[in-house]
Amino acid sequence: MTATVPTSITTTTTPAGAASPAGAALAASETLTLAAEPPGPPGAVGSMSITDVSCYYGSHLAVADVSLEIPGRAVTAFIGPSGCGKSTLLRAINRMHEVIPGARAEGSIELDGVDLCAKEVDPVAVRSKVGMVFQKPNPFPAMSIKDNVLAGLIIRGQRPRASAADELVERCLERAHLWDEVKDRLKKSGDSLSGGQQQRLCIARAIAVQPDVVLMDEPCSALDPISTLAIEELMRDLARDYTVVVVTHNMAQANRISDVTAFFSLASAGQPGRLVESGPTGQIFSAPKVAATRDYIEGRFG
Ligand SMILES: Nc1ncnc2c1ncn2[C@@H]1O[C@H](COP(=O)(O)OP(=O)(O)OP(=O)(O)O)[C@@H](O)[C@H]1O
Ligand SMILES: [Mg+2]
Repeated sequence: MTATVPTSITTTTTPAGAASPAGAALAASETLTLAAEPPGPPGAVGSMSITDVSCYYGSHLAVADVSLEIPGRAVTAFIGPSGCGKSTLLRAINRMHEVIPGARAEGSIELDGVDLCAKEVDPVAVRSKVGMVFQKPNPFPAMSIKDNVLAGLIIRGQRPRASAADELVERCLERAHLWDEVKDRLKKSGDSLSGGQQQRLCIARAIAVQPDVVLMDEPCSALDPISTLAIEELMRDLARDYTVVVVTHNMAQANRISDVTAFFSLASAGQPGRLVESGPTGQIFSAPKVAATRDYIEGRFG
């Protein structure tokens, strides 16, 4: 039996005159159901349109005017020098940016045509559709490996029944390329795993709530080369079913694993980060349109 989880984004309030993606006003608690197979070319499921997004910390403009298309069911890499706003933009995508006191974002980020930034959209529901994996693996140390996989559902009060939970845990751990290594110790603490295994556990936890998008902020930077290759292989594999956006400082990694690369930069320290250019990874790495992109990729700055 397959455990079911919500596949919709719930809106909470409707400001007067606010338009829904369909152009109609939304009633309180109305549900915006993301189309399972929206019209469009194959692979369009889980595609995102970022339009005129700017992110602030208080009065500090950290990211300015980003517009970017992120293809569905593909890997998009964010690259650029430290401080150009890659993590900030990533957090804006699943509305974790606004959790930071004084932080706010402007613009729109549509997932399959639904504006995730709209005031009436519940940020908790957004985070179900757009999961996140961090630089440092962060399993819950007091929870077993099994409960770590189920943590997103447990937190939402949606713990599946025993047999469905077992099936879901096995499926997610297999999907995260971890099942064979942990199937005999599911009750052990998540902390008992190696760093690379913990990161794969965090990926299993992220996909257990059936997101459309998985965001990863430098997921390999704390890992050894073998674990890094395992996560890279996993990211490629995940892109068959999820839209993957990964921040990386590793140019070879961006070139190996991504379909699309977006290069961000900033004029100088304290200035806002901006998107310099984006395109198919092969083109960005072999024939970038902007000299600054080539300089960065070739290691001449940043
Ligand atoms: N919590 C915060 N409060 C205030 N300013 C912040 C916060 N987080 C980031 N910033 C600022 O926003 C800008 C962008 O930071 P961000 O962390 O997004 O850059 P980044 O491209 O991810 O850098 P790195 O490659 O070093 O991780 C920087 O000027 C940074 O100092
Ligand atoms: Mg960062």
